[in-house]
Amino acid sequence: MLIQKVRLNDFRNFKTKLFEFSPKTTVIIGPNASGKTNILESLFLLSTGKSFHARVEEEMVNYDADLARVKGRVKTDGAVVDLETVLTRGFLDIGKSAPEKIAKKRLLVNGVGKRLIDFAGNFRVTLFGPWDLDLVTESPTLRRRFMDTVISQVDREYRRASLSYEKGLRQRNRLLLRIREEGISRSQLLFWNKLLVKNGDYISLKRQEFIDFANATQGLNTQKFELEYDKSAISEARLEQYTEEEVAAATTLVGPHRDDFCFFTEKKRDLSRFGSRGEQRMGTLWLKIAELEYIEHISGERPTLLLDDIFSELDDAHREVVMKTSNSQQTIITTADPHFTEKLKKLEKISLP
Ligand SMILES: Nc1ncnc2c1ncn2[C@@H]1O[C@H](COP(=O)(O)OP(=O)(O)OP(=O)(O)O)[C@@H](O)[C@H]1O
Ligand SMILES: [Mg+2]
Repeated sequence: MLIQKVRLNDFRNFKTKLFEFSPKTTVIIGPNASGKTNILESLFLLSTGKSFHARVEEEMVNYDADLARVKGRVKTDGAVVDLETVLTRGFLDIGKSAPEKIAKKRLLVNGVGKRLIDFAGNFRVTLFGPWDLDLVTESPTLRRRFMDTVISQVDREYRRASLSYEKGLRQRNRLLLRIREEGISRSQLLFWNKLLVKNGDYISLKRQEFIDFANATQGLNTQKFELEYDKSAISEARLEQYTEEEVAAATTLVGPHRDDFCFFTEKKRDLSRFGSRGEQRMGTLWLKIAELEYIEHISGERPTLLLDDIFSELDDAHREVVMKTSNSQQTIITTADPHFTEKLKKLEKISLP
């Protein structure tokens, strides 16, 4: 699948704007604050139904507007699919005395409203930006989010299980609090335990598979990395074993929401503790390439690669690796400095003012 074009209406700094993309490489060139990252965010939104960095989704609506629209056309084996997301602040002023309440987000495929789990997966991307370069050293939350973003792109059941798990977790934590504060019976926990174990099992299984896949991929040039899955196993027995502590803490202590993974170098050294900054960045680059290959392996197609201003962060040798990778699928690159992309072949340019 390829993204052909995207139309933005009141999305971030864009009032109305149409961008068209090459099936090969498109370079978006523009000074700081011209909206380069915002364009990639809009494509990520069409892919996943979510932002990769907004704290609240309303942030994506233009300051002066109440409704933002992102509409993209994706081509798959001859057919075209129109994907659309509509974001609002939860109400719309339509001239009546009180503003009308409406949904904060709508997702549509060919004009038909869809649930998140059915909207995602129609257009697959791998997004790589400077913020990813801290993946090795940053908090486990980021690494879990990374695994979720990758696997969710290719596995509807994973999307369903994750949503169900998150909801179940919130309910179970609320119940733990009520057991502690109001002394209600623990019997209700059983229902939530079962739900968490069922969905949690699937989530850990798929995370394990992704990590095994990454470990089987090639290293970067001469460097080899390895991941170790630090799994917080979930089972009814484990949940029961921790019940006392969970009630005291009013929070669920085991399960995939506590998962992590760590990076090791070839010599089995922990990359987050012993690696140089450069080596840690290379670890992330390696993992991003593994992500592309994993998505291709599962779905049969390479995702569109979105590179946000990444060249200025890498040294020559690794810039070269990224350039080479960009030839293998549709790639959209942003940069403030066009000189980094001079070596790329077959590229189309979009210039932002
Ligand atoms: N909701 C919004 N409404 C209007 N403008 C917004 C909104 N959210 C962000 N912006 C503006 O978008 C601009 C930033 O866009 P973006 O981050 O895409 O720029 P960029 O070209 O990637 O810049 P850089 O080269 O610094 O990374 C900022 O000037 C910011 O004020
Ligand atoms: Mg940017």
